[in-house]
Amino acid sequence: MLYVAPRWRCLLAVAMAIAAVLSAAGGAGAQETCSGAVPPPPKRGAWMSIASFGGAGDGRTLNTAAFAAAVASIQRRRARGGALLYVPPGVWLTGPFSLTSHMTLFLACGAVIRATQDTSSWPLIDPLPSYGRGRELPGKRYISLIHGNGLQDVFITGENGTIDGQGSVWWDMWKKGTLPFTRPHLLELMDSSNAIVSNLVFQDSPFWNIHPVYCSNVLIRNLTILAPHDSPNTDGIDPGFEQQCVH
Ligand SMILES: *[C@@H]1O[C@H](CO)[C@@H](O)[C@H](O)[C@H]1NC(C)=O
Ligand SMILES: *[C@@H]1O[C@H](CO)[C@@H](O)[C@H](O)[C@H]1NC(C)=O
Repeated sequence: MLYVAPRWRCLLAVAMAIAAVLSAAGGAGAQETCSGAVPPPPKRGAWMSIASFGGAGDGRTLNTAAFAAAVASIQRRRARGGALLYVPPGVWLTGPFSLTSHMTLFLACGAVIRATQDTSSWPLIDPLPSYGRGRELPGKRYISLIHGNGLQDVFITGENGTIDGQGSVWWDMWKKGTLPFTRPHLLELMDSSNAIVSNLVFQDSPFWNIHPVYCSNVLIRNLTILAPHDSPNTDGIDPGFEQQCVH
């Protein structure tokens, strides 16, 4: 049997996942609403694993700094095709982190990016100009677990890996009226273009799951979005002010 090094196996999986996205995006049904909306994903200049930035997928180690270091490394490679950041199987506990342009975030089968429940360590950002205040409360709002602002060419995909918000601490604060600021989303993309979110599970978001806002050419497809039926406002996808396709 042919031995395929783990690195190449991943690339193969990535290639197949991207092919699946492309063939579906180019399908007859898609043409009606999304024709030509999303350019083909460019070949990334490098492949890197979150594990090589000091991270650990043991469910206890906080990987916020590892994600920040990986994204900074991809940002430095932006003129050379960016990079794919691979999240291996395991539970990767983290606080919020930001994405950069020309980046693919790829969650392997069995990979979980899990939000920390330490809400006090969650950074605050300005409310959206079009709301002028936090959606739920006046003033600032919590940044999303995975955040993108002013980006282009971003893929968030995988082999049915999971982005888990562990939202119950936020829902409890909301129910008790002790929430100090507007709750965070799992993924927010602001002022960005040419993004695909696909082939993943989003679960237990503190608030809305996916919030693309002031974006263009965002394709969201083939996701499983899970939350208990009594969780407050855990909407799946809440697009605002843009042109994009949701399948
Ligand atoms: C949807 O995503 C799953 C993994 O989450 C993958 O196995 C499947 O091939 C995808 N389907 C399409 C049409 O891309
Ligand atoms: C992905 O995982 C979700 C949640 O476990 C499951 O419901 C769904 O069927 C899976 N999809 C695929 C293609 O395996």
